[in-house]
Amino acid sequence: VVFASAQGDELRAEDGRTFIDFFAGSGALNYGHNDPRMKAALLDHLTSDQITHALDLETPAKRRFLETLERVLLAPRGWDFKVQFCGPSGADANEAALKLARKVTGRRRVVAFSGAYHGMTTGALSVSGAKRLRAAGGPLLGEITFAPYETDSYEALDSIGYLRRMVTDPSNGTDLPAAVIVEPVQIQGGLYPASKRWLTELREWTEQAGILLICDEVQAGCGRTGTFFSFERAGIVPDIVTCAKSISGYGLPFSIVLLKREIDVWEPGEHTGTFRGNQLALVTAEVALSYWSDSEFVRRVQSNAEVLADGLRPIAEIPQVRACRAVGVIGGVDFGLGNAARSEAVQARALELGVLYERCGREGEVAKLMPPITIAPDRLWAGLEILRRAICEVVEREQAGEPR
Ligand SMILES: Cc1ncc(COP(=O)(O)O)c(C=O)c1O
Repeated sequence: VVFASAQGDELRAEDGRTFIDFFAGSGALNYGHNDPRMKAALLDHLTSDQITHALDLETPAKRRFLETLERVLLAPRGWDFKVQFCGPSGADANEAALKLARKVTGRRRVVAFSGAYHGMTTGALSVSGAKRLRAAGGPLLGEITFAPYETDSYEALDSIGYLRRMVTDPSNGTDLPAAVIVEPVQIQGGLYPASKRWLTELREWTEQAGILLICDEVQAGCGRTGTFFSFERAGIVPDIVTCAKSISGYGLPFSIVLLKREIDVWEPGEHTGTFRGNQLALVTAEVALSYWSDSEFVRRVQSNAEVLADGLRPIAEIPQVRACRAVGVIGGVDFGLGNAARSEAVQARALELGVLYERCGREGEVAKLMPPITIAPDRLWAGLEILRRAICEVVEREQAGEPR
């Protein structure tokens, strides 16, 4: 399929077919395609010959973005965060976060979790779990400790208990970490939302031990889980937050790190990059952020979360579906380890029937349903019904002994 145009939650192919978008640029299009207000602001910026590249120079677009961020996100939450502009990927934001944590604490060890995905550059890959991805990475960063995530496809383990013990026992063979990096909802790992209790315990433990907590909000942030940040469910405040993907709102490359003011020990230009602070992205990001002070918009996102949870219920009843998980406007249909071929066949059939989505999980066994958070509720229902039909058809073919 060659995708030629798009609007909101709909993708159109060159040959005229249309698709409901449950992919949303892997989380870069939370507000859908070509949002009219963002597009108008962007066109206005371009046609009036405003600055398109500025690196660290001050511009009106940067000022307006920072003012909006403060007004809409930081001030109402009482957070005193500084904003760092990074190279325009989530991976680079995580690189910056790891470097900063090591510099601030003077320690090197970082704790990461099994199933984690933080990006493809060396530092980010070093704290990512998938062996398949790590294999091509060459020598990765040393001094990383992996602990099991709260829930995943394997049996539960008290990983915070393990970490606590690791730090208090003087004979544990390791040193005090600089930071813990965590996705409050592990998406690529298979769509596992950490519980409020687990996140709270993690925050309490890191605070007591003097370890910085980095929350990677690259994919689960920007409203995906119903609140702007996915850690807000637990009422915790991390020391460092990384955002990319939907922070620009329009699919334009852009990333930021939010860091508590007291840990800003950066020298000027110490983590640099030519495409930091993408001016076009700053323009659309300002519009995207402003939506979060519109109560009607917030209600719509929350009601879509309910529609998704309801629409997953009949799917969860299909015996070949191991489990359905959802948080906010992201859902996972888990076919179970060992069933990646079934998951792949369902994905292919859903595409034929007009729904595009990505798979996640250790083996691609989980259908990752990630529509724009602003999707029209009837379209969300329609997409979920298509998915249910695709699953039933694949299962019927399997039972008839036909090729999937
Ligand atoms: C949680 C998380 N962190 C970091 C990244 C990397 O972001 P990017 O692809 O922009 O480098 C991703 C990408 O999927 C992600 O899901």
